[in-house]
Amino acid sequence: MKKTWWKEGIVYQIYPRSFKDSSGNGIGDIYGIIEKLDYIKSLGINMIWICPMYSSPNEDNGYDISDYRKISEEFGGNKAFDILLKEMHKRDLKLIMDLVSNHSSDEHKWFEESKKGEDNPYHDYYFWKKGKSNKPPNNWLSVFSGSAWQWDSNLNKYYLHLFTKKQPDLNWENPRVRDEIYDVLNFWLSKGVDGFRMDVISFVSKRLDFPSAKKGTSLPQMMGNIYANGPRIHEFLKEMNKKVLSKYDVVTVGEGPGVNLKTGLKYVDENEQELNMVFHFDHLQIDYGPEGKFDPLPIDFIKFKKVFSDWDLYLKNKGWNSIFLGNHDFSRIVSRFGNDQKHRNESAKLLATLLMTLRGTPYVYQGDEIGMTNVKYPSIDYYDDVETRNAWKEAEEQNKDMDIFLKAVHKQSRDNARTPLQWDNSRNAGFSSSKPWLDVNKNYNTINVELQQDNPDSILNYYREIIRIRKNNSTLIYGDFLDLEPNNEKLFIYKRWDKQKTFIIVLNFSDDKILCDLNDLSSMILVIGNYKKSAYGESMDPWEARVYSH
Ligand code: GLC
Repeated sequence: MKKTWWKEGIVYQIYPRSFKDSSGNGIGDIYGIIEKLDYIKSLGINMIWICPMYSSPNEDNGYDISDYRKISEEFGGNKAFDILLKEMHKRDLKLIMDLVSNHSSDEHKWFEESKKGEDNPYHDYYFWKKGKSNKPPNNWLSVFSGSAWQWDSNLNKYYLHLFTKKQPDLNWENPRVRDEIYDVLNFWLSKGVDGFRMDVISFVSKRLDFPSAKKGTSLPQMMGNIYANGPRIHEFLKEMNKKVLSKYDVVTVGEGPGVNLKTGLKYVDENEQELNMVFHFDHLQIDYGPEGKFDPLPIDFIKFKKVFSDWDLYLKNKGWNSIFLGNHDFSRIVSRFGNDQKHRNESAKLLATLLMTLRGTPYVYQGDEIGMTNVKYPSIDYYDDVETRNAWKEAEEQNKDMDIFLKAVHKQSRDNARTPLQWDNSRNAGFSSSKPWLDVNKNYNTINVELQQDNPDSILNYYREIIRIRKNNSTLIYGDFLDLEPNNEKLFIYKRWDKQKTFIIVLNFSDDKILCDLNDLSSMILVIGNYKKSAYGESMDPWEARVYSH
């Protein structure tokens, strides 16, 4: 495969509201990020993806943009942004912006014009439809509960919103809309940004017959079968690439809900000239039950491993993968895939090992590098996330058992990943001098950056070390991958190799000590492990991780 910087680098993802507040208003901001650039750099990171920082009414914390060319004043405005970019480039850090182009805010000028009337030049920037006998045009569901159609009594029509009603979907069929988006891209590219993460990009081409889903279709099914991979998606992405992206040396990663092993390659096939990477969710929606996210099932480990093998094989020699285990939309990785109680330390390091030894560009979400955990707020009133709050309301309307639902919220809410970053054990975890917009996790006294900074055995220093190992070994970047024991119910054992080197990675994804003859590997050296033990031996301790090579 063609070698390039974004395949060889590692991305750190920042959720700016929760990263570091410099102004003392309880909300993270750009000067806060600038303060911590050296910290990020010390991890060995070379790209930073920052979630949306644009002007926004914040119905969905910035994923509802009211001006694509303005950085929110709350975050420091465009001036702070320019300084951030300069400070990042000074440190050889690349900046990946978040582009939200499937929808805008309903407070964007385009939508305000659009709803004025059918002859307004902006009317066709969105999808307006007549209902069917006082009912919405079809049974599409919003990802954030309820119908995906909102009635407008002025126009006597509905508009489409696949997310909240304050996030109307943009009509990409209209070439003027696409040109607006390309202009926005050019605006930021000409400032020198290094790439884009494209929000729900798999949804931008709509099925224009607007088919109703069969009765009983769940939301995840609707997303996969109807919203994603629409008829013109690849035409649009090729156009965007040709008109804009191909003119710059930048990196792109498309968020791809509903993208799977049948549809993923086209987005990233290097011959197709669309995007560099996609985020698929085959491993992150693995525990969604019949009623979706808030109806979680236990994780099937064999299936979990298979997702990585399948995608590696599927993209091999054709397109590049993105490797991530969580982000601002999912719970904390150590709580979800590890053990955040007795084995938090070991399991967080094991997950770091997995992230850094698979083929594809690794993404580290803020706070995972110190093993931050899920939060358990005592009631719904503490939650901010619109998805959680809407799902709660819906569950109440359906007379669900709300004690059980609260447990599901503890497990699955997006706010798990959005609690303020825990910098030290001072008030508000050193995140802000005043009350944060979302309560800090109470465990900040024992889990924080300051405590781990100089401790050689900390999760943080393990991240630094495993990242260093990854960057120094191109075998771990480009080498082949093979799962050596796909049916093993507790261990993930795989090989990475090329002409120069071979690595064997052994990960114990369980609370049990597992017999496993490591003496077979005695011709190899132990490169890193998360226990202080001899290089070989007969067993793997709970959540033990080992990387061997020769
Ligand atoms: C993406 C974002 C998520 C947001 C949604 C709507 O999934 O990651 O945070 O709520 O799109 O923009």
